Amino acid sequence: MLSNLPQQPADALLALIKLHNDDPRTDKIDLGVGVYRTGQGDTPVFGAIKAAEKKLLETQNSKAYLGPEGDMGFVHALMPYVFGKDDPTMGGRIEGMQAPGGTGAVRLAVALAKKAGVQRVWMGVPSWPNHAQIFGDLGLELKTFNHATKAGRVDMDALVTALNLAEPGDAVLLHGCCHNPTGIDYTPEQWDQIAPLVAEKKLLPILDLAYQGLGQGMEEDAYGVRRVLREVPEALIAYSCDKNFGMYRDRVGAIYVMAEDAAALGRVLSNGHALARAAWSMPPDHGGAAVRLILEDEALTAMWLDELDTMRTRMNQVRARLAAAGTAGSVDFAALGHQAGLFSILPLSADQILKLRSDHGIYMAGSGRINIAGLTMGNIDKFIADVAAVSAP
Ligand code: LMR
Repeated sequence: MLSNLPQQPADALLALIKLHNDDPRTDKIDLGVGVYRTGQGDTPVFGAIKAAEKKLLETQNSKAYLGPEGDMGFVHALMPYVFGKDDPTMGGRIEGMQAPGGTGAVRLAVALAKKAGVQRVWMGVPSWPNHAQIFGDLGLELKTFNHATKAGRVDMDALVTALNLAEPGDAVLLHGCCHNPTGIDYTPEQWDQIAPLVAEKKLLPILDLAYQGLGQGMEEDAYGVRRVLREVPEALIAYSCDKNFGMYRDRVGAIYVMAEDAAALGRVLSNGHALARAAWSMPPDHGGAAVRLILEDEALTAMWLDELDTMRTRMNQVRARLAAAGTAGSVDFAALGHQAGLFSILPLSADQILKLRSDHGIYMAGSGRINIAGLTMGNIDKFIADVAAVSAP
């Protein structure tokens, strides 16, 4: 029976982690999977997380089960950051539950949409490869449209055309900020145009907010999510703390539901709890508890926000340095200066990407996506020169 299963390729992005680790070259550069790195190339545990974990160790007196919704103190503590301090439940229409990382949150959001009758999802491409994988796994039809123009701007015409073709009851997946993999985000003015269109077409928005605070700032990065929620009767929001709290392997996420009224909200969440119970029963606790302890403590919150500012500033410095390089070979780095977050895509061919890996020890996704944070003031000149060398016209 089991031997009938065909071999599956390893996940291309995750496979890069091992390939890079196994490379003995000392000047190798890892621009693969999306983890933040300091100017020294490290991905340290946040100081605020270390302090919260210490507190957790001293004060936690039980590890008894919490239930499929996980730590609701964690879920609620995040809400003012996501939905705004003034009315984080939007009049009692938003509630959430904890999920194992951003992937768990997206998976549960898509499963809920499917259970509610959604058959088709619209999404700008390229996107995070796992989005399409999750839709496929859950048997939803995926309709794609072009996310960005060749000039490195949002392709609003493609988006508007696609949403006009969508049928009421379809879902649309939108990245809240720091678009993965392009770094090309909607401007507030574009969100102002998108939000009423999603509502008018009666689409169910699935909003993926995995990088809040890594783009323009915590408030600025929530603009799109809040703008859409002001317009539509219902929505699903997948949230990840893996990046903005540096909790990657601890899998810290949440899914929020906005429903038409409190009664519908309770029913949707009961389905979320049932789906979670059947999939993972309940989410891992440790990381969510550490994030909650930070958000419950003013001094730790200030420390965390400060660490997030440092990350954003460093990434903006790298972007500014790349943009200042202008053109290298056939690659124009200028557009990277006004993109946001961890990622940008370079217009390189599969051969050029392989050559960068084999000849120069530079590891990037097969799409040409680079993790900006993998560049430091110590390796950026080599990177630019190597891109120039492989892409020389
Ligand atoms: C990435 O895109 O690199 C991250 O979101 C990690 C992942 O799970 O793919």
